[in-house]
Amino acid sequence: MRITRSGQTLGARIEGIDLSQPLDDTTFATLQQALGEHGVLSYPHQQLQAIDLKRFAERFGTLEVNVANSYQEPGIPEVMVLSNIVRDGKPIGLADAGQSWHTDMSYSRTIAFTNILYGIQIPRRDGRSLGNTEFCNMHAAYDELPDALKTRLASMTITHDFNKFWEMMRRERNSTRPPLTDAQRAAKPPVRHPVFLTHPLTGRKVLYANPGYAMRINEMSEADSERTLAFLFEHQTQPRFRYAHDWQAGDVLMWDNIGTIHNAVADYRADEPRLIKRCQVMADRVFGAAA
Ligand code: OGA
Ligand code: MN
Repeated sequence: MRITRSGQTLGARIEGIDLSQPLDDTTFATLQQALGEHGVLSYPHQQLQAIDLKRFAERFGTLEVNVANSYQEPGIPEVMVLSNIVRDGKPIGLADAGQSWHTDMSYSRTIAFTNILYGIQIPRRDGRSLGNTEFCNMHAAYDELPDALKTRLASMTITHDFNKFWEMMRRERNSTRPPLTDAQRAAKPPVRHPVFLTHPLTGRKVLYANPGYAMRINEMSEADSERTLAFLFEHQTQPRFRYAHDWQAGDVLMWDNIGTIHNAVADYRADEPRLIKRCQVMADRVFGAAA
């Protein structure tokens, strides 16, 4: 197995491993540590069945079954389908997943560790792939905050709400998403997390805020919270913290949701098919693994 860093703020490529085969403990530990260190790992040229993706993903923690998700692999609800393909008049997957800066599951009491995607069909135009997934480095974003703000926010918390991203998509993207039902809202009530987390794999502080779900800094006045969140959102998405994954069919892409935020670039058309299968891994085991 070979790990090649991208040379940018995030990202490494892992070659010489077949993810359809069981991982031994040493390889697993190496990959998990690499994920903490590089934030985003890509494994080119994989050939997986949905069940292989699930088996690989569940090494890293408990798998989430999305509350709002109707697009599941038949018989394997932990594997979700992301796609803009419509078959017999029916979408085969969620067409607009992640199309704005966010962190997966920051709205959940148990937050997400890694999201693992397997690219089956990737749109291309003029010899270039479309639908990049972009990331920002939250270790670097924390490090470069003004000292006074680090001190001020050190013991503060942010309220995160699933409905914020959902409603933004409905408003701004002419989405076909219906409003969340009361049952869906009750299943994911707003939660509080510290503004800064200590990353369980690197031991370093990260900024745990994101434009998609962060609603309010609880220990500040409303106006102060608005102003500070606007500053944090601007700060954390600066180009110098960014890295983009340029998809190829056969890629497995995994990212660390504790140390990065991400955005799915929607630069392809409805007639340019994209098909990805995904498993969402929660951060139950990785925090336990710390120390
Ligand atoms: C997600 C997500 C990005 C992509 O599934 O949570 O953000 O590029 N997807 O599909
Ligand atoms: Mn996402």
